[in-house]
Formats: sequence, structure tokens, C-alpha cells
Amino acid sequence: MLEVTGLNAGYEDVLVLDGVSMGATPGSTVAIVGPNGAGKSTLLKAVYGLARVRSGRVVFRRDGAEHEITGWPPHRLTTLGLNYVPQTDNVFAALSVRENLLLGATARPRQAQARMERLLIEFGPLRAVLDRLAGALSGGQRQSLAVARALMSEPALLLLDEPSAGLAPEAVRTVFGHLGRLRKEGLTIVIVEQNARLALASADNAYVLEGGRNRYEGPGQKLLEDARVVELYLGGSGAGETKHARAAADQ
Ligand SMILES: Nc1ncnc2c1ncn2[C@@H]1O[C@H](COP(=O)(O)OP(=O)(O)O)[C@@H](O)[C@H]1O
Ligand SMILES: [Mg+2]
Repeated sequence: MLEVTGLNAGYEDVLVLDGVSMGATPGSTVAIVGPNGAGKSTLLKAVYGLARVRSGRVVFRRDGAEHEITGWPPHRLTTLGLNYVPQTDNVFAALSVRENLLLGATARPRQAQARMERLLIEFGPLRAVLDRLAGALSGGQRQSLAVARALMSEPALLLLDEPSAGLAPEAVRTVFGHLGRLRKEGLTIVIVEQNARLALASADNAYVLEGGRNRYEGPGQKLLEDARVVELYLGGSGAGETKHARAAADQ
């Protein structure tokens, strides 16, 4: 569904990604992990038209059609079926939860109300706070809103940047619970996670980036058991944490 090949991308004068390749098959969850500054967020931004792509290719396939989307602006990508949840500033704090959700469907305004009603079944707790300002939500509620808002555009592919950052363990479980159910419904997910253990445990496939380059890739479970990956990026044996992460991912 998504195929990134040899991407060189960055910002005004900085090149961050050095020939990065990755892909996601329909319905899969793909994790991008790696140390701080590895270029994980830049990769998502480059795919979603928010970073500058110097060379390389991004292809999106849907319903038998192939779209070369390299460098496309975000609104066009959203219309095509991709959406992106940034790590921070991912809701409009001064607007209500309801307004945030409805704005998420600007590409399909006529279906917005019905879509919101359907999403509120999965994101039940948001119903009670529909008229509250997004800025007044807890961290977990806000992150749930950010995901629900992105889903309002009915994407086939969702790019998520560190949805668990700064959340209490209970809220992390809630957010990963949503993701697990969305995955079962067939949504394709590319997720950047600081909690590499959790990300790998819940991913079909994973990529380890380092210094703007591909370092390792493979099935999430396999990387989780790979001694090199564990030593470099996960720290210690961590058997207990791995078990815990799996339980959260399976919810
Ligand atoms: N807007 C920006 N302008 C210039 N450099 C940036 C910008 N955002 C990130 N960088 C740089 O790009 C590199 C990779 O950052 P990032 O993609 O955020 O890494 P990660 O998400 O893996 O922590 C870092 O060296 C960072 O300083
Ligand atoms: Mg980042």
C-alpha cells in the first residue's frame, strides 16, 4: 500500500534522511523505531508532504491504482486516503472536541456527522466531552481525539508519530487498544514509537533507523528477539517488559 524507496529528505538546508526505504502492505501495522534524532519523524513528514524531499520515491497503492505521491501536499494526500497524526499540537486546543472531529472531515463534509457518530462508538469516552475544549482534555483523551480526528477523513493509511509520548501507562493502554481494534478493521498503520518494545510487540513489520539510514528491518516479533536490536535499542534482557508490552498490544 505504501512504498518508500531511497528517500533523501530533510528541511531547508539540512538533509536528514539518507536513502531510506520502507513499505507497508494493506492492513499491516509497521513500526519505525530508533534513537532520538534518527529521522523517524522526518520520515513521516516526508511521506505526508511536510518535509522537503530531494530525491527518492513515495508510492501509494489503493483499489488497484498506483499513485506516485512524492512531494504531494498534505490536503491532497488526505483526500487520497492517507492521514497523519503529529506527535504534538495534534488537536486545536481552542476548539471543542466536536469541532475538532468535524474539521477532520473537511474533505467529506456531508458525511461528517454520520462518521463522527460511528467513531464515537469506538472512542466512547469522547462522547461525554464533546463540548469541552480540546485544550482542557487529559493527555490520553487528547491523543484519542487526535487519532479520531484523523480517522474522520476515512483514511486507508494512518501515519502516527509517538502516540504514547508523555502518557500515563493507563492512557498508553487505551491508545494502543484503539490501534489494535483499528488494525483488526483493516486500517494500515505506520507508527513511530519511543517505546520500541511496545511498538515492536504490536507491529507486523518494523524498521530500525539510525542516523537517517535504515539499520535493521524485519517482523516486529523477530526484532524484539534479535540480540543486536535488544542490546542497542531496547536495553537489558527486558523479558518482563516485553511480556507486558505484548499483553498491551493484544488488547
Ligand atoms: N524543522 C527542522 N528543521 C531542521 N532540522 C530539523 C527539523 N526537525 C528535525 N530536524 C533535525 O532532523 C534530525 C532528525 O529529527 P527527527 O526526524 O525529529 O528524529 P526522530 O523523530 O527520530 O527523533 C535531527 O537532527 C533534528 O535536529
Ligand atoms: Mg520524532
